[in-house]
Amino acid sequence: MSRLQEALLAWYRVHARALPWRGEKDPYRILVAEVLLQQTRVEQAIPYYHRFLARFPSLKALREAPLEEVLKAWQGAGYYRRAVHLHRLAQEVEALPPSYGQLLKLPGLGPYTAAAVASLAFGERVAAVDGNVRRVLCRLFALEDPSPKALQDLAQRLLPEGEDPGAWNQALMDLGATVCLPRVPRCPACPLEAHCRGKGAPGRYPRPRRRNVREEVLAALVLLGRKGVHLERLSGRFFGLYGVPLFPLEELSQRAEALGVRPRPAGEVRHALTHRRLRVQVYLAPWDGEGEDPRGRPLPKLMEKVLRQAQALLAHEGIVPFPHAKPHGVEPP
Ligand code: ADE
Repeated sequence: MSRLQEALLAWYRVHARALPWRGEKDPYRILVAEVLLQQTRVEQAIPYYHRFLARFPSLKALREAPLEEVLKAWQGAGYYRRAVHLHRLAQEVEALPPSYGQLLKLPGLGPYTAAAVASLAFGERVAAVDGNVRRVLCRLFALEDPSPKALQDLAQRLLPEGEDPGAWNQALMDLGATVCLPRVPRCPACPLEAHCRGKGAPGRYPRPRRRNVREEVLAALVLLGRKGVHLERLSGRFFGLYGVPLFPLEELSQRAEALGVRPRPAGEVRHALTHRRLRVQVYLAPWDGEGEDPRGRPLPKLMEKVLRQAQALLAHEGIVPFPHAKPHGVEPP
């Protein structure tokens, strides 16, 4: 082993974070953790990890559950396509295959997740490069914007032989998450400082990416029927979930007319997605359909905010749309 490798592993033996999936050997549980961690920070992911596994403790339990229940358990974690993919994966395989190449073919598993599961669960010597690892390696080797392939190759060469590849991968992740921080890295605390070519220029390696974030102004129409709110099945990024009608603000009058309702404004909610910032104007209208209690359905966070906003206004006016219920929203898992 090189000095660099020894230094990182020695650091990890002392400073590894105590995470619930550390030491876990069940590939399914590791998969659930890694899928959650694709887009969710560790502290946020932990309660969902426990909740999801309590409800679906095995691939078999997940396979046998209706998608809607799976989405309910995922509710609040966001990026629901991950849960749709997990559910589909459970239909496709009896057990998780024990190799990177096979894992990569499963729904929802990209190179990172396949490598994480292969190395943590099956001890395969394959480097898992997530955002944290990318940052660590770019700084360590003074790379501004390496291609994914170049980075993967570099990470693979760096993986020590004859050591637990899962521990190595997680050591790099923990270093990125706790020491080699995005804005203000803690270089004096870093076991790799002596080896680091990017030291002193953390803002340069990796070169910051300019994200194009568009702002969109939408309207959400909360139709209050005899039994609750009108909900429809959503598509696209919210596939499988439910919500109230949501559309560009310009379409409001046309939509209201088509439905024969007269909406009144109920405030605004804001919501950030990966490439879009949404400003959603919430409108309320009495409606002569039935509607339902939205707590019975899996809802994206955006819709929870919309319904809370509508409910806040109604509460202010002394109207309780769901008389037998606690305030709307997921209970913290
Ligand atoms: N981020 C994603 N997977 C992780 C893991 N296994 N340990 C720490 N951070 C992670």
